[in-house]
Amino acid sequence: MEYDIKDIGLSQKGKDRIEWAERWMPVLKQIRETFIKSQPLKGLKVAACLHVTTETASLMLTLKAGGADIRLCASNPLSTQDDVTAALVNEYEIPVFAIKGEDNETYYKHINAALDFGPRITMDDGADLVSTIHSSKQHLLENVIGGTEETTTGVLRLNQMAKQSVLKYPIIAINDALTKHFFDNRYGTGQSTIDGILRATNILFAGMSVVIAGYGWCGRGVAMRAEGMGANVIITEVDPLKALEAVMDGYSVMPMHEAASVGDVFITVTGNKSVLRKEHFEKMKDGAIMANAGHFNVEINISQLEQISSTMRDSREFVKEYTLANGRRLYVLADGRLINLSSAEGHPSQVMDMSFANQALSVEYLLKHGNELKPIVFKVPDAIDHEIARLKLKALNKNIDALTDEQIKYINTWEEGT
Ligand code: ADE
Repeated sequence: MEYDIKDIGLSQKGKDRIEWAERWMPVLKQIRETFIKSQPLKGLKVAACLHVTTETASLMLTLKAGGADIRLCASNPLSTQDDVTAALVNEYEIPVFAIKGEDNETYYKHINAALDFGPRITMDDGADLVSTIHSSKQHLLENVIGGTEETTTGVLRLNQMAKQSVLKYPIIAINDALTKHFFDNRYGTGQSTIDGILRATNILFAGMSVVIAGYGWCGRGVAMRAEGMGANVIITEVDPLKALEAVMDGYSVMPMHEAASVGDVFITVTGNKSVLRKEHFEKMKDGAIMANAGHFNVEINISQLEQISSTMRDSREFVKEYTLANGRRLYVLADGRLINLSSAEGHPSQVMDMSFANQALSVEYLLKHGNELKPIVFKVPDAIDHEIARLKLKALNKNIDALTDEQIKYINTWEEGT
């Protein structure tokens, strides 16, 4: 079996941690039990480019249990958990190409290795498989039935490809399922981003001014949790609706050029580039900390920060100190890469349970229906979304009401008023 990982000797630790994560992923477990019996993915080649974590391992084991033939590579050079790669290779015989801290060249070498076995389904978190196959591996396109995309940034990229008519196969946008972004983006990013910042710095959030750039589902989650820890939360936005929502949620809202001189901690969650740049660095207080929770490491313009810095040094693991010409010291965490997956373990298993249940069921759906779909981006079918919510409630032992016959009739008529 081909693979490229850091150290196979880490496999027992990885196996123990995967088993712990699975303890908290009951929906995926139920899907796996059905897959074992029905083998819906028998012989299906799947290339997956995801953050290689314990939760991703659980998804890989579910696909394999359904009969899939998988290759896994990383969707970010810093998020790989090396013990997990070892366990996947050594204990579960799943080929993995991922090493934490790999350079750009190795990152793409691994993406190529995942694609070169000729997948029929691609599974992305950030759209790197789709963009690579469409740009430098077009000969593989004819094999592909469809793909899935995990995250907001990837869905944006793929929608652009569809709009420009360059997308050659259908994609299911996992991110847009309600059982994904309501939970993963909000509660997952909310908790894990702060977890990453705290593990990297060990600072106290209470009393800090925390500036959050972006008030989408992820930004809302981070704001809610930062506030809960006693921080003064400031939101910056470009979208008037989201800004208004932040105002009504009780947060201070201001442009970044004002927030720059006030903030103690800056967290970017926009999906856009250069959200923090030279004009902001120059206004920041001595000791200001910057972290990114958006998919790509482009939200903090680090090259501009380097240009205006007289010295740089590693202050502690995941913390880089930049001393500016004005003598102030600014800190960037995890080189501006996804903080929750770089210095912490990513979203907790309970939310990845639902996100990855969407992945597993969408792969099954693509295998059945991919040939009928146009090469554009689709929502996860509502039936799958609702089934996942139902399974999660069942696992949590929560019962809900059912409509009475009278109520069903009422909501299906228009005649009845006051
Ligand atoms: N994205 C965010 N958190 C994650 C996790 N724990 N595993 C895989 N992908 C993730």
